[in-house]
Amino acid sequence: MKRIGVLTSGGDSSGMNAAIRAVVRSALEMGLEVYGFIQGFAGILDRNYRVMDSSSVSGILNRGGTILKSARCEEFKTDRGQKEGLKSLEELGIEGLVVIGGDGSLRGANALNELGMKVTGIPATIDNDVYGTDMAIGVDTCLNTITWAIDTIKDTASSHERAFIIEVMGRESGYLAIMSSLSCGAEAALVPEFPYDLEKIGEKLAERFKEGKTDSIIIVAEGAASAYTIQRKLKNHIGFETRITVLGHIQRGGVTSVFDRTLASRMGVEAVKALKEGKSGVMIGLMKSKFVEVPFKEVMENKKKIEPKLFDLARILGVIL
Ligand code: ADP
Ligand code: F6P
Repeated sequence: MKRIGVLTSGGDSSGMNAAIRAVVRSALEMGLEVYGFIQGFAGILDRNYRVMDSSSVSGILNRGGTILKSARCEEFKTDRGQKEGLKSLEELGIEGLVVIGGDGSLRGANALNELGMKVTGIPATIDNDVYGTDMAIGVDTCLNTITWAIDTIKDTASSHERAFIIEVMGRESGYLAIMSSLSCGAEAALVPEFPYDLEKIGEKLAERFKEGKTDSIIIVAEGAASAYTIQRKLKNHIGFETRITVLGHIQRGGVTSVFDRTLASRMGVEAVKALKEGKSGVMIGLMKSKFVEVPFKEVMENKKKIEPKLFDLARILGVIL
C-alpha cells in the first residue's frame, strides 16, 4: 500500500481535525502518501483533494470544525454514486481510505468496502449514536459546551425565578439531553426514548417551587419536541415564568476538549495501522477503555441504545423524566 485517502463527512464535531492530523502523521510515518478529500464523499466524486504533508495538519489539534470540510452527499447513497466513487479512487491510485463521521458516513464507508476498496472508519458525531463505541469524537467537547451554557443560564434563571426550557441537539438520540441533565443538575429531561407527561412535570415543578426551588432547568432533546412546543404545553401547569434557549450549532464547534483530542489522536493512528495491516471494513471503537476494531456490518446492523442505568441515575439525582 502506497497511497491512502482521508475524509470527514456528515455533521461535523470538534475533534475531527485532531483525527485528520493523526491519520496524516501516522500514515507519513508508515511511508504512505495521503490525499485529503474535500467535503466528504463529494470530494471523491469531484476529485477534489489535497495532498497532505506534515505541515498541512499543524496547528489544528485544538480547533473545532474540519480543515477538509464536511458535507452531506445524496449521490453517494446511490449504487451509481458509489461505483463512480470507487472508479475515482482507483484512478487516483488510492489503495485505502479512512472515513471520519457518524452513522450515515460509516454506511458510505461500508458501501465502498463492499465494492472492494480497503476502508476503515472513525466514529465522529456529537450525538454519540454510533453502535460499537462507548464514545464518538466530539461528544465530550459538546457536553462541555452545553454544561457551560446551562451553568451561565442558571445564574439568570435564579435571579428572576424562572424556568428555562433548553433545547439540545439529538434528532433520534437523547444522549446529550440525559448526560447534560446529570452534569448540570437539571430538574427535568425530555428524550425521544421515553414518553413524557408534561402535565405531571409541570405540577411537580410547581410543587418544588412552593418548597423553595424557584428556578428550573428543563432540557429537551430536539428529537423529543421543540422547546417552543414544550413551553406552550407547560405554561398552564408550571405556575412560574418560563423562557427558552435553543442552543443550536454552538454545540458542534469550539476548542476541542482534552478527552476528544486524545481519543481522536488514538483512533486516527489505529485506523491507519489497521489499513497498513491489510484490514478493511472495520471501525475503530472505544469499548470499556480499550480500542477495538468493530466490523462495519455490526455497526450497521445494531442500534446504539442509551444504558438504562443512566436513566436510573438521573432519576435518583432528582431529574424528572
Ligand atoms: P452522519 O455521518 O453524521 O450520520 P449523515 O447521515 O447525514 O451524517 O450521512 C453523511 C453522508 O454519508 C451522506 O450525505 C452520504 O453521503 C453518506 N451516506 C449516508 N448514508 C449512506 C448510505 N446508506 N449509503 C451510502 N452513503 C451514505
Ligand atoms: O448528527 C449531528 C447533528 O448535530 C444532530 O444532532 C442534529 O440534529 C443535526 O446534526 C443538525 O444537522 P445540520 O448540519 O443539518 O444542521
